[in-house]
Amino acid sequence: MTRKQLIVGNWKMHGSHTANAELLAGIVGARPYLADVAVCVPFPYLSEAAIALAATDIRWGAQDCSAHEQGAYTGEVSASMLAECGCRYAIVGHSERRAYHAESDQVVADKAKAALARGVTPIVCVGETLAQRDAGETEDVVKRQLSAVIHALAHCASEIVVAYEPVWAIGTGRTATPEQAQHVHHLLRAQLQAATGRGEQMKILYGGSVKPDNAATLFAQPDIDGGLIGGASLKAADFVAICRAAG
Ligand code: 13P
Repeated sequence: MTRKQLIVGNWKMHGSHTANAELLAGIVGARPYLADVAVCVPFPYLSEAAIALAATDIRWGAQDCSAHEQGAYTGEVSASMLAECGCRYAIVGHSERRAYHAESDQVVADKAKAALARGVTPIVCVGETLAQRDAGETEDVVKRQLSAVIHALAHCASEIVVAYEPVWAIGTGRTATPEQAQHVHHLLRAQLQAATGRGEQMKILYGGSVKPDNAATLFAQPDIDGGLIGGASLKAADFVAICRAAG
């Protein structure tokens, strides 16, 4: 089964009008790519990403999405707003949101459901901390995180993208080895296959210190379908090199 790979830049809380324009122009100018490419930008920059990318095959998305449809939820942004901004994707359950905003598995599942209901594909992040890995809990943790989403979405669960991001590899320069990542991706795919019957078609991205010099070996693993890129997505040359390492 060949799945088209997907590379998503997660800008996190970085950017400015000037920096964004330069970065987007660099990504657009280096087309075409064999892989699908997208950028997930801070909310205030969604409309400029939409303008810069509208006439291209590069997609854009957000880094979070409210679990609520609308209402008195100060500071939240709904899935229908993201859909109106042309978002193809919304990252949900990133470990930084789980850690700093106390998002539970259930909240993450509700967010994924809200996004999907509005036609925005949730990129559901799962991953263990270093303490959990050292305690031999990696499999239990990622399975539990994914199972909450599968349960909430039921027959729509095959519509999501999954991102395996070991917390200890995020922003640390310490990448999971291709074998470590492949092992977990394989487990996640088996879980998706058992739950939806469509696991072979679904995309599972790897995230955590992906750089131009390690991207190709990671993406060559049979169950790694591309990457969710943090720091290296902020420099056009690096992001373009990573996109070119995928196919
Ligand atoms: P880094 O690529 O900076 O390690 O971040 C990974 C990540 O968190 C992407 O969502």
